[in-house]
Amino acid sequence: MTKVDVLLGLQWGDEGKGKIVDVLTPNYDVIARFQGGPNAGHTLEFGGTKHVLHIIPSGIFHPDKINLIGNGVIIEPRIFEQEVQALTAKGVDATKNLYISKKAHLILPTHRLLDAANEQAKGNARIGSTLKGIGPTYTDKIARCGLRVGDILEFDFRERYEMLKAQHLRTAQTLNFDISNFRLDGLTLDQYEEAWLASLATLKQFRLIGSEYFVNQCLREGKRVLAEGAQAAMLDIDFGSYPFVTSSSTVTAGVCSGLGIPPSAVGRVIGIAKAYCTRVGAGPFPTELFDQTGNRLCELGHEYGSTTGRPRRCGWIDIPALRYACMLDGVTDLVITKPDVMNDFETISMCTTYEIGGQQTDEIPFEYNAVHIDPHYEVYPGWCQSLAGIANYANLPENLRHYLGAIEHLTGVNIMAVSVSPDRKDVIFKPNNQ
Ligand code: GDP
Ligand code: IMO
Ligand code: MG
Repeated sequence: MTKVDVLLGLQWGDEGKGKIVDVLTPNYDVIARFQGGPNAGHTLEFGGTKHVLHIIPSGIFHPDKINLIGNGVIIEPRIFEQEVQALTAKGVDATKNLYISKKAHLILPTHRLLDAANEQAKGNARIGSTLKGIGPTYTDKIARCGLRVGDILEFDFRERYEMLKAQHLRTAQTLNFDISNFRLDGLTLDQYEEAWLASLATLKQFRLIGSEYFVNQCLREGKRVLAEGAQAAMLDIDFGSYPFVTSSSTVTAGVCSGLGIPPSAVGRVIGIAKAYCTRVGAGPFPTELFDQTGNRLCELGHEYGSTTGRPRRCGWIDIPALRYACMLDGVTDLVITKPDVMNDFETISMCTTYEIGGQQTDEIPFEYNAVHIDPHYEVYPGWCQSLAGIANYANLPENLRHYLGAIEHLTGVNIMAVSVSPDRKDVIFKPNNQ
C-alpha cells in the first residue's frame, strides 16, 4: 500500500506549483488535482516554450502518466475544452491519460455571471476574484443544488441545467446586475451558453470515473500518486485571510475530501514558497512593498497573474504566515522558488514576527484584515551573482544558503529543492546532509 504525496502552495498562490509538479512527475504514476478550478494558473516551461494550465494537472506533458481531476475540483467545460485544444495544438492528446471524477462539480455560465454580480455588489470590499465562477459553484455544491460531471450523461441534464440557470438569473436580478451587458470571452451570456453546452461533447470524450475507487485501487497496487494543490494555504476557505480567500480547502486536509482518501493515506507533504512573497487580488499582505523594491520584484519576477494578467502585489517573505501554513499542512519538505529574482539585491529582508498593538507575535491574528500589522525584519546580505548553471546545492552562493538555512530554521522544515529559473531543468535538489 503506497501513500499519496502532496504538493501545496504555502503563501497566496503562484509559488511555482505547476513547474515543480512537472519536475516531480517522473517519480509518480498519477498526478491528481483535488480542489480549485480554472482560477488556478500553473505555468510550465521547457524547450523554450511556456504552457499555462488551469484545470488540467501539471503532469499532462508526460504521456505515460495518468492525470486525474478529482471530485473536489470544479470544471468549467468551455475553459476545459480550450485547454484541451491548446494541448492538442502542441501535439498532446489529453484524452489518452486524463481521467475525470464524475463527482466534480460543473461551473455554469451563470455561476460566472453571479461571480461578477457578487463582486460588483461588494463594491470596495470586493475580493478580487478571478471571475471564473468559483465562489458561486462551491456555494451551490454546499447548498446541494449543483450539477456534477456525471450528470451530463443523464437524460434530464438539460432540464436540471435550465432550473439552476433560472435560479441564478433570479439572484443576479436581486443584485441589480446588468445581464444584457455581461460578456464572457466577448460573448453575450446566450452566445457563451451555446459554446458552453457544445463543449460538453469534449468532456464526454474523457474517461469519467469514480475517482475515489480509482485512487484507492492505485494505492493498493503500489502506484505512486502526487496530489497537486491549487491556490495556497493563505487563500484557504477556513484558514486563509477570510473573506479574502478562495472557496475551497487548499490545505492538506482538502486532499482527503477532494480525492476520497483517508488521512492515513497521506504521505509526504511538499510545501512550496517563493523566496519572497506575492498576492493577487485584495486582502491583507503585511510584508507588501509599495516602493521601488516592490516594483523590482514585480518586474524581475514577471509577477503578472497567469490566469488574469493582473500585476501581483509583491513583498518580502513572511515567516509567521509560512510557519502557519507549515503547521496547517504538516509540511515535511520545502521547495523554495525564484531566489534568482533577487540576484541583484544588496540586501534581502525576512519578516520573522509581527508587531500588533505594541505586542510581538508570530501568530496570524483573527483580525488579520482589520488590525495594523508592523512586520519585524531581519536583514540578510544578498548574493549579488547569477545562479545560472549551478547544479549542486553546495555550489549555491554562501549568502543564499545562509538565507535558505534561516527559512529552514524558522519553519523547522528541511528544504528539499530550490528552483532558480522558470525552466523545468533548473531545479537544484538538496541532499539531506547539507
Ligand atoms: P503556480 O500557480 O504556483 O503554478 O505558479 P504560476 O505559474 O502562477 O507562477 C509562477 C511563475 O514563476 C511562472 O511564471 C513560472 O514560470 C515562474 N517560475 C517558477 N519557478 C521559477 C523560478 O525558480 N525562477 C523564476 N525566475 N521564475 C520561476
Ligand atoms: P494558483 O493555483 C493566486 C485569488 C484571487 C482572489 C481570491 C479569490 O495559480 O496559485 P477566486 O477566483 O478563487 O474566487 O478568487 O483568490 N486566487 C489566486 N491567487 N493564485 C491562484 O491560483 C489563485 N486562485 C485564486 O486573486 O484574490
Ligand atoms: Mg498561478
